[in-house]
Amino acid sequence: MKALVLSGGRGTRLRPITYTGAKQLVPVANKPILWYGIEAIVKTGITDIGIIISPETGHQVREKTGDGSRFGARITYILQESPDGLAHAVKVARPFLADSPFIMYLGDNLIADDLQEYLDEFKSRNLDALILLRKVSNPRAFGVAKLDENGRVLELVEKPQNPPSNLALVGIYFFSPAIHEVIEKLKPSARGELEITDAIQALIERGKSVEARQLKNWWLDTGKKDDLLEANRIILDTTLPPGEKPDLVENSQIIGRVKIGKNTSVINSTIRGPVIIGDNCRIENCFIGPYSSIADGVTLVDVDIEHSVVLENAEVKGIQQRIVDSVIGQRAKIYFQPKRPRALSFMVGDDSIIELA
Ligand code: TTP
Repeated sequence: MKALVLSGGRGTRLRPITYTGAKQLVPVANKPILWYGIEAIVKTGITDIGIIISPETGHQVREKTGDGSRFGARITYILQESPDGLAHAVKVARPFLADSPFIMYLGDNLIADDLQEYLDEFKSRNLDALILLRKVSNPRAFGVAKLDENGRVLELVEKPQNPPSNLALVGIYFFSPAIHEVIEKLKPSARGELEITDAIQALIERGKSVEARQLKNWWLDTGKKDDLLEANRIILDTTLPPGEKPDLVENSQIIGRVKIGKNTSVINSTIRGPVIIGDNCRIENCFIGPYSSIADGVTLVDVDIEHSVVLENAEVKGIQQRIVDSVIGQRAKIYFQPKRPRALSFMVGDDSIIELA
């Protein structure tokens, strides 16, 4: 059994963050989203992992994630020249996958359930595909499944106008090598992609054994800002251990589950967990509220922030209002300029969003 993790794609919904970085490397609780999937796969005992990368961000994914030894796995990087769809990624990975059954895992998806139970079922029942589903309130935005009363999949539709159910396809699939034959014959969809839903639909039409299971716990597709913040909230809530006493703390209150990295100084501040702060940060005269993740090298001075994710080496100083529900990119700078108190001055990248209240 092998695994194929998809870490290519365009990432348009997470612009401007994805102009300079891979969305799968955006940190959730200070760890790249992608790594959660790799860890979940390795936990099932699968260690032969292929990662699909794009020409634009592939080098970053490769540099950060390495050869797999940090996970106890062996990683093979597979270049997909253009993001022509999830089934196209499988096609490109065919030499790596050979005739092995495999888990396909979208690199920006996070689930709470263990994969083991689903993997055991896929293997013991000799299925050609096992898909995972989750009830959603807006099925029009997803691939949607129609099931019979025994849980067999009758039909899959991508982003339907009239959804046959509210069961969305989660970005984790189990396939036998039968998937390659149908992908060979697949035609691009109206949006020009080789769709994995079409490939699974073709398996169904050929009478192959395709089944679905509903996830028991949460699922997040972190491709958008609000979902990313929600993933950060849930991971901090469920995985952050009780706080340890950090070293460089002066005149500050640290309340609840707070993790602070090496060489980070906290001066005249209150931090109310769950909060994670990386290495080499400077936190001065701040309130850092629940569900905040502050990456390495960040400077926060005279700042009040909560429910936000701040990426590496960002600097925020002297902001008079509370910052909430925000994602602040790598090396971004937000300053209060005391010499021009009523003027705002910006140098903002394409597709940035600034909401002033
Ligand atoms: P999506 O989030 O559906 O697509 P995207 O990354 O292009 O993002 P957006 O819609 O915001 O432009 O992709 C799901 C995952 O699969 C994601 O981790 C990227 C990856 N992917 C590939 O590796 N190759 C592809 O051809 C596509 C479409 C996605």
